[in-house]
Amino acid sequence: MTTTLIGKPVTRVDGRAKVTGAARYAADFNQHAQLYAVIVSATTGLGRVTALDEAPVRAMPGVVEIISHLNAPRLAYGPHKAFIDPEVGERLHVLQDAQVRFYGQPVAVVVADTLDRAERAANALRISYAAERPVVDPRDPKAQAVEPSGSRGHSHAARGDADRALADAPVKVDVTYDMARENHNPMEPHAVVAAWDGDRLTLWSKSQFVVNEQAEIAAIFGLPLQNVRVICPFIGGAFGTSLRTWPHVTLAAIAARQVGRPIKLVLNRRQMFFTTGHRPRTLQRVAIGATRDGRITSIIHEGNGETSRYEEFTEALLSATSYMYSCPNVRTSYRLTPLDIGTPNHMRGPGESSGMFALESALDELSYALGIDPIELRRRNEPTIDEGENKPFSSRSLVQCYERGAERFGWSRRTPAPRSMRDGRLLVGMGVASATYPVWYLPTSARVRLHPDGTAAVEVAASDMGPGTYTSMTQVAAETLGIPVEQVRVSIGRSDFPPAPPHGGSMTMASVGSAVRAACLAARDEVTRRAIADQRSPVFGAALEGVEWIGGNVRRLGDASAGQPYRDILASSGQPIEAHASNFRDPEAAQRYSMHSFGAVFAEVAIDPDVSTIRVRRALGAYGAGRIVNPLLASSQCTGGMIGGIGMALMEQTALDARDGRPVNAHMADYLMPVNLDIGQLEALFVDEDDPHVNALGVKGLGEIALVGMAPAIANAIHHATGKRVRHLPIRIEDVL
Ligand code: MOS
Repeated sequence: MTTTLIGKPVTRVDGRAKVTGAARYAADFNQHAQLYAVIVSATTGLGRVTALDEAPVRAMPGVVEIISHLNAPRLAYGPHKAFIDPEVGERLHVLQDAQVRFYGQPVAVVVADTLDRAERAANALRISYAAERPVVDPRDPKAQAVEPSGSRGHSHAARGDADRALADAPVKVDVTYDMARENHNPMEPHAVVAAWDGDRLTLWSKSQFVVNEQAEIAAIFGLPLQNVRVICPFIGGAFGTSLRTWPHVTLAAIAARQVGRPIKLVLNRRQMFFTTGHRPRTLQRVAIGATRDGRITSIIHEGNGETSRYEEFTEALLSATSYMYSCPNVRTSYRLTPLDIGTPNHMRGPGESSGMFALESALDELSYALGIDPIELRRRNEPTIDEGENKPFSSRSLVQCYERGAERFGWSRRTPAPRSMRDGRLLVGMGVASATYPVWYLPTSARVRLHPDGTAAVEVAASDMGPGTYTSMTQVAAETLGIPVEQVRVSIGRSDFPPAPPHGGSMTMASVGSAVRAACLAARDEVTRRAIADQRSPVFGAALEGVEWIGGNVRRLGDASAGQPYRDILASSGQPIEAHASNFRDPEAAQRYSMHSFGAVFAEVAIDPDVSTIRVRRALGAYGAGRIVNPLLASSQCTGGMIGGIGMALMEQTALDARDGRPVNAHMADYLMPVNLDIGQLEALFVDEDDPHVNALGVKGLGEIALVGMAPAIANAIHHATGKRVRHLPIRIEDVL
């Protein structure tokens, strides 16, 4: 595919709207006569609500209503199953009973005429509880790991006899890892404006998956699908927290119905730690056996993730282990520990980023046990096929990523011995790790309308949480139609647009992009048909296959002229053309290959030997991720993910109080995240990868892989700098003192 716009560093088409405040986020959609709702969150981690002292609060200025399990409507909570929701277990049915299942669970909603008055009233509402001690730590003696009951393929894999091969291996590592719970903490909090018109509900709601929110809310309220509309044109970051529909959306809709007015409900930062999901804490064991010349003979990877008591959340913690390296004996096993917490959910690089921290850290330990350079160790165990699936890879550029990355990063300057590199008084360490993420591709439809003035309007129910969907889809449409980007208008984020999969799992560019391309190709065919039927057109009477499309012009095959601009064809009839198409991919071709992105991540840390402050001075990610549609967006996406990885490695941890399950650092002062001063020099580079199998655009996706690999690269660099192996995250000053 030769391209003119795809692959070019087009600047964001929505950049101006975003920086001038013209872009409207969920909470910006104020409605006439709207009221404000504030959630009252449980202050006990397990038990029952025994009383609500409503009278004094009802007497406060501006208070319109207090809704709790005592007066909330009984909701249908009909069945709804979707790609992103837990496969097993019921949802949290809010305000349907007096039970408190975790700290911060919504137990009431207060509605008032202003936000200020609603907040004041919510804070004044006294609630009594019959409280019990929750179990919130997977290491608590009362916690019990269980087999996942779901069937999403995240559980077990086996080939050969890994335990015996480990026992027989001359060189081995066998270690355990503990990774902290993290919360997504995007800049924009969850927000929703809910308005009823009879039995029709409109939600302006922060969502990465508007069609799913529509379906879920319809099921909860027992409404026909078409009675619910979800609108979300812009998202201020999400990282996965808005993939699912959380209880605050239901609560806003309940409140709006109860008071008969539109309701605005915005979670405060503290509430963002309660009911909007989190990266689950994981406990893992990795054991690797190898021959003395560095051939891996056994990999055992056991993982344990936390989930809630009322839903089962699973993630792909161990999936990468079966295909990363060549090894005849592999065993993975996945267990879950239900706790008295809210349900976790996907957070950037879900599963792979946690599992690969353990695997890639252990591999680094093995490289030291063997005395082999960690990149060389990976090269010696590079597989020719996906040995887990027993299929060829559609493409795999891991070795090229290591080669290009190592050269660019200056890996050859590294001296392998721990504590052997210094810069002045600082200890310097360099570490590497592999990254990977599957290529997801789900059915998507898109609609394109070509107007006689030469402009094109694209509609699809996709989202843009930051990667630049508006821009990349504009590029695909403009490229396919042969018109300038200025003439394309992309509209997304509405449930009444053609359906798109979740804006997550790094699948938007591949899935939605392919659908936009298909719709534009269908529109081209429509234009061509119209021209063929038009006596004034130079292609009048030609066969459809006898007409070619050059830029925005149609001409007969073999005709050397510039052809007829398609806008002239439309202008002559004055009628727009509309086309609708889906992102078809041959399912058999898709089954033949194992499809993943790969990357090599390099990090350099500098550690003060006296006070042990850790700084990531440089990091480089080299990725093989198929066609890069926009290097500007791609680089921004990847450095953003790498910063997430720095947070994972060194800072982020949601700490729960064992007595009541309270997240003790549920605010931005104590939930540490990297800021500009924490970031040194970051670079993402992309190796050329032409993959004809993944999809029509040759795109693999980038959002998740950019976080995978960063934390182990940093942990490995810390070991190189200090000689200390830290097997938990985050790694803090006290771990390397
Ligand atoms: Mo990303 S965790 O798939 O939003």
